[in-house]
Amino acid sequence: MKTLITYLLLSLTGIMLLGDAPHRDIVILVPSTPDSVSFDQSKLLIISASKESAPQLVVSAQWEKRKSFNLAEEGVREKFAADFYRLVPPQATIELLSYSFKYFKGYLDPDTLKFGYTDTLSIRGLWQKKEFAELAKTVQKQSDASEVVIYLRGWMDSTYAATYDDPNNDARTLYKLHVSLLPGANAIYFSSPGQREHAVSFVTTTALESKATVDRGYLFHNSALEQSCTTCHEGLPSADSGQTMNADCNVCHKELKHSTFLHAPVEMDECKSCHSWSKERHAVVVEKGVPTACYDCHSEKQQQVESSSSLHPVASECLTCHSQHGTQRDHLLKADVYDICTSCHEDQKMNHPVGRHPLRYAKLKNGEEISCVTCHNPHGSNFEKLKRFPGGRMDICTQCH
Ligand code: HEC
Ligand code: HEC
Ligand code: HEC
Ligand code: HEC
Ligand code: HEC
Ligand code: HEC
Ligand code: HEC
Ligand code: HEC
Repeated sequence: MKTLITYLLLSLTGIMLLGDAPHRDIVILVPSTPDSVSFDQSKLLIISASKESAPQLVVSAQWEKRKSFNLAEEGVREKFAADFYRLVPPQATIELLSYSFKYFKGYLDPDTLKFGYTDTLSIRGLWQKKEFAELAKTVQKQSDASEVVIYLRGWMDSTYAATYDDPNNDARTLYKLHVSLLPGANAIYFSSPGQREHAVSFVTTTALESKATVDRGYLFHNSALEQSCTTCHEGLPSADSGQTMNADCNVCHKELKHSTFLHAPVEMDECKSCHSWSKERHAVVVEKGVPTACYDCHSEKQQQVESSSSLHPVASECLTCHSQHGTQRDHLLKADVYDICTSCHEDQKMNHPVGRHPLRYAKLKNGEEISCVTCHNPHGSNFEKLKRFPGGRMDICTQCH
């Protein structure tokens, strides 16, 4: 641990003992561990770069797109190639293309095309690939499949001009970045323009499971690295032993606001409604823990989770399904409902509750998409099997049919 902090301080103060190999021109200072589990949709990163050999920083963050084409609809098969082209934003490159056809029996296992970071393709590049031409042809000729679900994933490049001089080293710049993350594994690359092959990578996984920050090996807000920020940033949590926690958390933690849907107290900058300084642990903590901290404001949920006649044993682990700060999905959900639920309920992936029943994508009468929570309430219910409706297995069918 000590060596790690010393190393970080050395690199920050610019006493670079790292030699001058090209890839050392860019060093990731924060986060300090190469791979960490994050619970959020974005990450705060601080990068130190040599002004001379890395005058600008290219950040390749990940993007994704999912679309289902209804092949039974008039003209969809004929327009497929053109519509596919429009799925990919101009600055983006492709790492993975996966596609799955739906037949009478259900969805087939997906086929995939995969490319590494250095040979990642633009949409033009992909179009020229033999494999893509074959896919387009298969779609056009399909007569049996009723649907094809496309999943695309890749990198989106942004170039940053140097903004902050490293206060301790004239030859280096500090980039303070807030990078958006996707669910699952994220490989983010940093390079100088035209130097993709020397890119430095940072890998993190946004996992559904969640553990208290204080259980991590390295905490920024009790580190020597934090002390080096206090010359300019006032009121940092550990600086006055957490007496005030008066720092404007948002100056640094803007990454929390990258999400489309923000939790109300985060949007209102009320970080202190959940976070406080712990003298014993010398760290920023959530004193009451989850779910108690949540019940302070969501008391109606406590009632439902603890006193329903049909209980969900995981209901009190709110952060399995929700993010505490913000997400790209409605109701602060960490992932698509189907993906969250089937991560534990393998058996309900298909042919549930009856053979071939749609579990996502299909539209209900009110225009919303069907999902597991159309029929079940994940927090608890007074009808058996967490159902939202009374009656037995077949009785509920008439709710919709
Ligand atoms: C030489 C003074 C100085 C030092 C030392 C310094 N910062 Fe900053 N930092 C600033 C200034 C000035 C801003 C801009 C403040 C604003 O936008 O209100 C800033 C902004 C930031 C931001 C937001 C960047 C953005 O564009 O959104 C982050 C994150 C940050 N600092 C982290 C750190 C960390 C972590 C350290 C210690 C490792 C540190 N800073 C050390 C001066 C400094
Ligand atoms: C000077 C910039 C700065 C300010 C101001 C700041 N933070 Fe942080 N914070 C960081 C950095 C950098 C990390 C490390 C991020 C990482 O490792 O992914 C961090 C990490 C954290 C963590 C994770 C635990 C840890 O210590 O690593 C929590 C919780 C946290 N900050 C809460 C807060 C709260 C609440 C405030 C406002 C009272 C605040 N921060 C103000 C820069 C800042
Ligand atoms: C509704 C409660 C709540 C609010 C409001 C809240 N947080 Fe958190 N935050 C949590 C919980 C819960 C965790 C993760 C568990 C833990 O740290 O014990 C967490 C973790 C974090 C982490 C570490 C996350 C990671 O994955 O690296 C940071 C940084 C953080 N919070 C900053 C903030 C900042 C800044 C604000 C205000 C803009 C804020 N939080 C508002 C509940 C909250
Ligand atoms: C300081 C009060 C406060 C705390 C603490 C709090 N919340 Fe919230 N939460 C709100 C408010 C206000 C809203 C927005 C109003 C609403 O939709 O109920 C909200 C909304 C939500 C929503 C989204 C509702 C929707 O339909 O979009 C979820 C999910 C949620 N909170 C979960 C949590 C979890 C999980 C915790 C504990 C980590 C927590 N909340 C702690 C105040 C709080
Ligand atoms: C197994 C996954 C799961 C867990 C665990 C979970 N939720 Fe939810 N929650 C959902 C889903 C899915 C929705 C959106 C669908 C809906 O309306 O029920 C939701 C919706 C919500 C809403 C907004 C709509 C409403 O029903 O009021 C709030 C607030 C909320 N959850 C809070 C919590 C809190 C607090 C906890 C922890 C005590 C928690 N949730 C645990 C899956 C979960
Ligand atoms: C972290 C794992 C986990 C996740 C995620 C999860 N569940 Fe469960 N669920 C369980 C466990 C454990 C049980 C109890 C054992 C069982 O019946 O399989 C259960 C039981 C159930 C039951 C049966 C209840 C009964 O009375 O027999 C339903 C229905 C259910 N879950 C629906 C959902 C839905 C809908 C979601 C997504 C919103 C979801 N679950 C997400 C773990 C999970
Ligand atoms: C169209 C309504 C509907 C949808 C959508 C639905 N379910 Fe169910 N589910 C039911 C019914 C009805 C039962 C009760 C079956 C029975 O009593 O035998 C049930 C039972 C369950 C059970 C308990 C199984 C057992 O044998 O005890 C689990 C777990 C479950 N569902 C999970 C899910 C998950 C996960 C999803 C989404 C992938 C989902 N359900 C979507 C209607 C639905
Ligand atoms: C919450 C609403 C809802 C409930 C409850 C429900 N369904 Fe469905 N069902 C749908 C939707 C939406 C579709 C797809 C659109 C359509 O064809 O109507 C569908 C489609 C079907 C299909 C056609 C599947 C295919 O081949 O495409 C059958 C068969 C079916 N449902 C049977 C049932 C049975 C049996 C039950 C009771 C166990 C039931 N549904 C309960 C909403 C529901």
